[in-house]
Amino acid sequence: MIVLGIETSCDESAAALLHYHESGWKILAEEISSSQTDIHKFYGGVVPELASRAHLANLPLIVEATLGAAGLPFGEISAIAVTRGPGLLGCLLAGVHFARGLAFASGRPLIGINHIEGHLLAPQLDNPRLKFPYLALVVSGGHTEMQIVHDFAHYELVARTTDDAAGEAFDKSARLLGLEYPGGAALARLADAAGESSFMLPRVMRHRESFSFSGLKTAAALLIERNRERLADSRVRGELAYAIQEAIVDALVTKVEGAISNTGLTRVAVTGGVSANQALRRRVSAIAGVESFFPSALHCTDNAAMIAYVGALRFQTGERLANESPVLSRWPVESLSQLADGSGRLASI
Ligand code: KG4
Ligand code: ZN
Repeated sequence: MIVLGIETSCDESAAALLHYHESGWKILAEEISSSQTDIHKFYGGVVPELASRAHLANLPLIVEATLGAAGLPFGEISAIAVTRGPGLLGCLLAGVHFARGLAFASGRPLIGINHIEGHLLAPQLDNPRLKFPYLALVVSGGHTEMQIVHDFAHYELVARTTDDAAGEAFDKSARLLGLEYPGGAALARLADAAGESSFMLPRVMRHRESFSFSGLKTAAALLIERNRERLADSRVRGELAYAIQEAIVDALVTKVEGAISNTGLTRVAVTGGVSANQALRRRVSAIAGVESFFPSALHCTDNAAMIAYVGALRFQTGERLANESPVLSRWPVESLSQLADGSGRLASI
């Protein structure tokens, strides 16, 4: 079975073709638009209306390029999987309407995918050894949550952020350090080059169930402000970046360690844009008694391969996106586990 995956929940327009067969799967081709960062850089963040318009322009080109790269005619596609939520409403609408058009014109079935389910299963794409159950930490620009991935379509919430996402804490601090949007990776480079810091940020949310990054973000902003006249010194900038990265990573890893000791799980996967962070990877890999898994660089950030992959699994359960089903800007992934049989069909009807 060959599934075309389409992803447009935020600022990446992406398409992928995945061949799913009895003994495994193979990504035949995948394309991600790189044009959007330049649009949003100018405003220092994602502008939803501009992102939706960019998706509309990108999608036909990206799908055609993906088919071309795989050397496949459209007729070979068995099903189309598209991100139905959560995400920016206009962006989701652009993707789902485009996918509906393709499905209608080609007579192929359409499946609506939960973007977070894509992130939860994305580490499997690059790590066939990653078996259920495992603890998954989803850390991106829009989301920060921990789920127990009991099985396909059976997820249990452990903790979620009550305010900002970890990626936002990286990006907003990066901006105050004078780095361009989205800034997280650039801040990480400065921090890694510095390798140490004379600055210290408070450790947050150690005694709370949920994640919260607003306090940390404010503390980082105050620290940067207090050292404003020294920011021209690259050593000072590096040390500030190091202190900020350490505080964010420490907050995440402390929660992961707590969840591991509470659940007794022996596998942990980190996924989403921030899972590209090397300091975070090092810390998670060093947790004793667990095996850690990370997606490849391409599959950390928003991508369509993870959507095609979940699409293939859901296609097999017989799930289809009904014509009248709306897109969902909010859609907690654990709601997919509502059915006792774990098929998750209920939440998608
Ligand atoms: O998953 P993603 O592409 O989009 C969302 O769904 O939000 O994640 C993007 C986020 C941004 O906040 C970006 O700064 C952050 O991931 N990011 C990083 C690194 N690479 C990307 N944050 C810290 N260190 C990195 N190396
Ligand atoms: Zn994402």
